[in-house]
Amino acid sequence: MNSATAVSPANIAFIKFWGKTDSNQNIPYNDSMSMNLSGCLTTTTVEFDPRLDDDRIVINKFEASGSGKQRVVRILDIVRREAGMGLKAKVESANNFPTASGIASSAAAFSALAMAASTAAGLTLSKRELSRLARLGSGSACRSIFDGFVYWKGGKDDRTSYAYQLAPVTHWDLWDIVAVVAKESKKASSTQGHSVATSSPYFRQRQRGLPLRIKQMKEAMLKKDFPKFGRLLEEEAVDLHVMAMTSRPPIFYWNSGTMEVMKKIREWREEGKEAYFTMDAGANVHVICRAKDEAEINQRLGRIAGIESTIVNKPGRGTWLI
Ligand code: DP6
Repeated sequence: MNSATAVSPANIAFIKFWGKTDSNQNIPYNDSMSMNLSGCLTTTTVEFDPRLDDDRIVINKFEASGSGKQRVVRILDIVRREAGMGLKAKVESANNFPTASGIASSAAAFSALAMAASTAAGLTLSKRELSRLARLGSGSACRSIFDGFVYWKGGKDDRTSYAYQLAPVTHWDLWDIVAVVAKESKKASSTQGHSVATSSPYFRQRQRGLPLRIKQMKEAMLKKDFPKFGRLLEEEAVDLHVMAMTSRPPIFYWNSGTMEVMKKIREWREEGKEAYFTMDAGANVHVICRAKDEAEINQRLGRIAGIESTIVNKPGRGTWLI
């Protein structure tokens, strides 16, 4: 068998990865925590083919070239080396969420690629090995390999930096409604953001507070203490963006839609409708609520003028083969 297809979810970071100690191996300054998104999936097929004289990478029906292609070829090269073979591959990848939804999902893409490429090459990797391979494509991809709620132990080098499961999909009925307020792709990629992270005067300060925040967030998650979890979630999201806005050069991801959703969520809480916000490196807001409130909150989001659409997610399983 020279061909394999894998499906993998995007994930939302509850504790954020921001800043790399090694940008070649994607080793983060700090541990991070996330939940997989059941509704944001990438499907990737890799076929090693003796008739090809170069790798062909097709993403959402467009042929990739330049640095986008190189990032994928790097993973293929590692797999070829491990498998002791030299065949070129065709890689075809597509997202189930609208391409122009502003959800750039390198996490879903590189976790699916890691599993599809290694399987197509005849390798049998453990989940930890898959997590490390996915990480080399995009840091946050290492978390999408595992089901449900996931922790990435930052480690200090390639061997010690990988993710593992904290709790299964069924652990907690947390939903993530993505409020899409910007469809265009962001101006500064997260890779660029990582490279300037330490220039923010708030970087060190956040690092100092993180061990306690991580401990408290893990506890709140395992005990399903939603108010405590939500407070920590929002503090962490704001910290990420404060760092981005104060780095040199500064990066502003929020737009007026982002601000409007944050304001509404705080108002709804005062009325007793409990939801919390977080954002990754982009303007779109991930609205985290309990299953019982999902329909009502989704409806309320639909009435906010700046929102173009919403994507509803439950805790999702990790990468799988089809
Ligand atoms: C803000 O994993 O996309 O979403 O390794 O350069 O591809 P690269 O970065 P990436 O960074 C994710 C940043 C974040 C936080 C997170 O997901 O932890």
